[in-house]
Amino acid sequence: MKENQASFTAMSVAYMRAYHSRYDAPKIFDDFLAYDLIPEEKRELIEKHLIKQYVTWDQQLNDTENATSLHDRITTSESLMQAINNVISRARYTEDTLEEAFRQGVKQYVILGAGMDTFAFRRPEMLEELEVFEIDHPSTQKFKLHRLAELGWKHPAKLHFIPIDFTKESLVTALMRSSSYDTNIKTFFSWFGVTPYLPQKDVLATLRFIADVAPVGSSLVFDYIDTDAFIPEKLSPQMRELLEYLSKIGEPLESNGFNPSNLAEELASLGFRLYEDLSPTNIEGRYLQGRTYGHYEHGHFACAVVE
Ligand SMILES: C[S@@+](CC[C@H](N)C(=O)[O-])C[C@H]1O[C@@H](n2cnc3c(N)ncnc32)[C@H](O)[C@@H]1O
Repeated sequence: MKENQASFTAMSVAYMRAYHSRYDAPKIFDDFLAYDLIPEEKRELIEKHLIKQYVTWDQQLNDTENATSLHDRITTSESLMQAINNVISRARYTEDTLEEAFRQGVKQYVILGAGMDTFAFRRPEMLEELEVFEIDHPSTQKFKLHRLAELGWKHPAKLHFIPIDFTKESLVTALMRSSSYDTNIKTFFSWFGVTPYLPQKDVLATLRFIADVAPVGSSLVFDYIDTDAFIPEKLSPQMRELLEYLSKIGEPLESNGFNPSNLAEELASLGFRLYEDLSPTNIEGRYLQGRTYGHYEHGHFACAVVE
């Protein structure tokens, strides 16, 4: 991430949720607050970027230059629709799994790299019982807090904001700064769209911190890019484009990814039991039935439990 600048990808993925909520079908996840949370000038910038990045590239491949409206240009771009499918299915996976954990008595939810997440404002009924901690890079969090104040949204009593740079500070230290965080109660953690941007050592250290700070039975859902994406002969063309684009906007991928075939062992060495690992095909089967395009290659969702 660029220092002193809110994450542009956080706003772009929120835009994708907003777009899906307003125009897309079938509906996988309804983030009806995302549109307002992104300031208008950022929305315009994101539209330009997405069209430039995804659509023109697809047009070269698929000759869809007849599609002229923004809506047509988005829906006819396979790579953009795959990116939207990734973003909405991971949001749905997170909140489905969280609801299950909540039914089983979890009372704390930590959103790592929360970006423009709107959960705390969309689900007031859950925040009557659930303490929510949004943890994010100071620049992104500052931007979000400013936007929330601008919008005048009421701050839920159980929502807490904690800034952290995962590359500079331990998650444990950051959580300990909040007097509301209770190390004795089972906690649900989500970490989506963040691990690929961090050096592998910081990803592993943060996983270790979660296993250290949270009681046995706490759980974590996260996404990762598989190691094939880092082998040039195996990298899919769409992912290659995405990696180049992320470097261009100053949010390059830093991680080495995980290998699905030894993820369980790797997580076990960090203090977790792998509960499930969804491949792109699994994600399509669970969430993307009936949609024209699927999930992009190399993208996995996983759920692990602290042991
Ligand atoms: C692609 S966004 C994902 C946001 C959100 N999880 C979502 O799915 O909508 C990446 C997020 O990671 C955060 N991030 C990137 N590098 C970070 C770092 N070194 N420390 C803390 N957060 C970081 C950014 O601030 C941003 O909110």
